[in-house]
Amino acid sequence: MTCIRSVVAGCGSYLPERVVTNADLAKFVDTTDEWIVSRSGIHQRHLAAEGELTSDLGLAAAQAALDNAGLTVDDIDLIVMATTTPDDTFPATATKIQMKLGMHHGAAFDIQAVCSGFVYAMSVADNFIKTGQSKGALVIGAETFSRLLDWEDRTTCVLFGDGAGAVVLKPEEGTGELSDRGMLTAHLHSDGRYRDKLYVDGGPSSTQTVGHVRMIGKDVFRHAVVNIADVITEALDATGYTIDDIDWFVPHQANRRILEGTAKRIGLPLEKVVMTVGQHGNTSAASVPLALDTALKDGRIKSGDLVLLEAMGGGFTWASALLRW
Ligand code: UT7
Repeated sequence: MTCIRSVVAGCGSYLPERVVTNADLAKFVDTTDEWIVSRSGIHQRHLAAEGELTSDLGLAAAQAALDNAGLTVDDIDLIVMATTTPDDTFPATATKIQMKLGMHHGAAFDIQAVCSGFVYAMSVADNFIKTGQSKGALVIGAETFSRLLDWEDRTTCVLFGDGAGAVVLKPEEGTGELSDRGMLTAHLHSDGRYRDKLYVDGGPSSTQTVGHVRMIGKDVFRHAVVNIADVITEALDATGYTIDDIDWFVPHQANRRILEGTAKRIGLPLEKVVMTVGQHGNTSAASVPLALDTALKDGRIKSGDLVLLEAMGGGFTWASALLRW
């Protein structure tokens, strides 16, 4: 039996030039490098320059992913963009990137699942490809999350940063075996009852403002470890793999302690966890492709590896995906 799988043909990422260290932050926020590192593992974050927009970050990552794949926009017909910080309320930031890439065919749209956005977007694009509706898709996660921060709220502003990452997905025909390359399984969840644990206190319909991030960190932390472990188990159960089969775990980069807690809960050695949170903080929908690109470029992820993606964020939303590289 033949089977179409979505294969990652290329990956790219982009971080704004400006680096803000914990020591820099401590000059205007009541915090310390010691507190931020010990509670979150974050050492620095990148912040977009004035006038630098989410579409600029996403475009750079998208172009890098196409170049890495050796493809052009002629090879894709779909852009699925995960972002919580669109340039404008509408149109979708994906359409701006489509225009800037010189692409005038196919479809481009944004999806909103906050920090889980990239894994959601991968799953959406995967379904387009598996059903034959797309012959090639750009999946982008890009954020200027700093623009949602209340710089007087030390419990949130030290944790986030700006960035972007992208992959190109192409269909590949296989035998249907788990050894075939590509997306093997994806699992998406949400539960709106937890809205008040992590949200933005503004929006076009409610306040006609953009609003600021509000979070009950301790509660999010507790739910994160449980939900992430559960959705990983779901991916393993769906494929029959065990945790020992995983070569690389590429999680959402929110907090080093969440990743350590999750790894312990699922019995995965920390050496298999790709951890970049220290270098760019929590970049929401951009964090999974930023970590993915890092592990691809430094040669850790190789052809044939089993790679597990995971994310959890506001909503709550949470998701996992398992790929044979
Ligand atoms: O992307 C998904 C969404 N986000 C997450 O996954 C984040 C989940 N949560 C977390 O990562 C952690 O809960 C935090 C890093 C946000 C906080 O760590 P915590 O160990 O849960 O700390 P806490 O909130 O219990 O705060 C401990 C203390 C408090 O002081 P008191 O009340 O004990 O005197 C805070 O006021 O730390 C204080 N504090 C700070 N001190 C210095 C809070 N923020 C800061 C700060 N600098 N920036």
